[in-house]
Amino acid sequence: MRVVVIGTGHVGLVTAATLATFDHDVVAADEDEGKIADLTHGIIPFFEPGLPELTHRGVARGRLRFEVDPAEAVAGAEVVFICVGTPARVSGEANLVSVERAARGIARHLTGPVVVVEKSTVPAGTADRLSQVLLLERPDLSDEIDIVSNPEFLREGQALEDSLNPDRILVGARSPLGFETMRRLYEPLIRQGVRLIETDIPTAELAKHACNAFLAMKISYANSLARVCERADADVTVVADVMGSDPRIGRAFLDAGLGYGGYCFPKDLKALERLAARLGYDFRLLREVARVNDEAVRTAVEKVKDALWNLEGKRIALLGLSFKPGTDDVRFSPALALARELLEGEASVVGYDPEAGANAKSELSELALAPSVYEAIEGAHCMVVCTEWDEFRSLDLDRVKELLAQPIVVDGRNLFDPDEMRARGFVYHGMGRAGRRGEY
Ligand code: UDX
Repeated sequence: MRVVVIGTGHVGLVTAATLATFDHDVVAADEDEGKIADLTHGIIPFFEPGLPELTHRGVARGRLRFEVDPAEAVAGAEVVFICVGTPARVSGEANLVSVERAARGIARHLTGPVVVVEKSTVPAGTADRLSQVLLLERPDLSDEIDIVSNPEFLREGQALEDSLNPDRILVGARSPLGFETMRRLYEPLIRQGVRLIETDIPTAELAKHACNAFLAMKISYANSLARVCERADADVTVVADVMGSDPRIGRAFLDAGLGYGGYCFPKDLKALERLAARLGYDFRLLREVARVNDEAVRTAVEKVKDALWNLEGKRIALLGLSFKPGTDDVRFSPALALARELLEGEASVVGYDPEAGANAKSELSELALAPSVYEAIEGAHCMVVCTEWDEFRSLDLDRVKELLAQPIVVDGRNLFDPDEMRARGFVYHGMGRAGRRGEY
């Protein structure tokens, strides 16, 4: 099928490269000329394991190309995916300006019947707005434009796995043609046995927000439990294991720590809360989830302050700056929120990240960057684990202890074993693991 993907961010590019592997003819379009020039030269603008290879293969096989001119891109398309950003407004509501602009661009250049697929995460009701815009722009094609919602569930850092082997494909449509088109598009996955859930459009739109908000809620639940465990001399990691052994609960997303960050959870949580409010329902549970999440970073800051007494003049090493391992993305990264607080307290903060150093520096210029993890640690009065990169799991702990000015570790991701750390002579503070607190 002839497919166009509007927007070459994480979702757009992964969608385009995936559909190209299914032998569709895919054009990935973006109004950002610089991005398209880079992509045309084989440069992927962000870090995502495996994506450069998949993209290059699609291009080499003649199944994938990049286009800046919307008329060129859209002409002859059977399916057009909208994969543009939907950032939060100050109010928390989703900003859908790019979605509307993409829709108008598509409408103006359509040459025939098309299925427009909303893949960006949008509030329920957006498809109706999209239809309105498309039909106002192109009344001549009123019977030939169909709308489908097909939310994306990919995680950064595991995007290819999620896209090539998804847990489910969710399709909301309003006509047999919409469903049929999506079945043809995803035929290789459906043949493989991937579950296809077909429903109406508002249900599909809402389901995506519901998933992200629920996962965020699990994390905040674990972080609230961590605060209680600290006071009750209990270990939250074991509590989470016990909970997770019940299949009705599941172990995933119960890791207490610095909380969630990234482009999706914070904004999707707010967008769902705002949508509910607009529709007359006060979804205050979601506000509490966000509050608990903010509290997680503040708790870690308190642990650092407790351990160091005064922050002024202290050197603090932050291990990991991205919002999670496997990505160079620092948007809403708890590590940077922590760095800001420590810098405000007049500590000198030096960070190291295997991939996200440059992005972190451009977001927070006062942050010093170290070229290696050991150089970050050298001379530090406290080491704080902010992101659980594998590289940190295999640190030479004797060397770490030797390099630190004093052997204080605040483990914001519960990466290390408290008993082992204390046996090695570290003053160790985990998140929600006070039961095994060592002596100073
Ligand atoms: C998320 C959803 O998982 C994905 O389905 C959706 O399409 C986009 O949003 P992503 O933002 O890439 O994906 O990150 P994810 O792996 O879900 O992690 C989100 C945040 O939660 C990270 O900051 C991570 O460190 C944190 N987290 C995760 C925890 O603090 N504890 C956990 O137990 C799990």
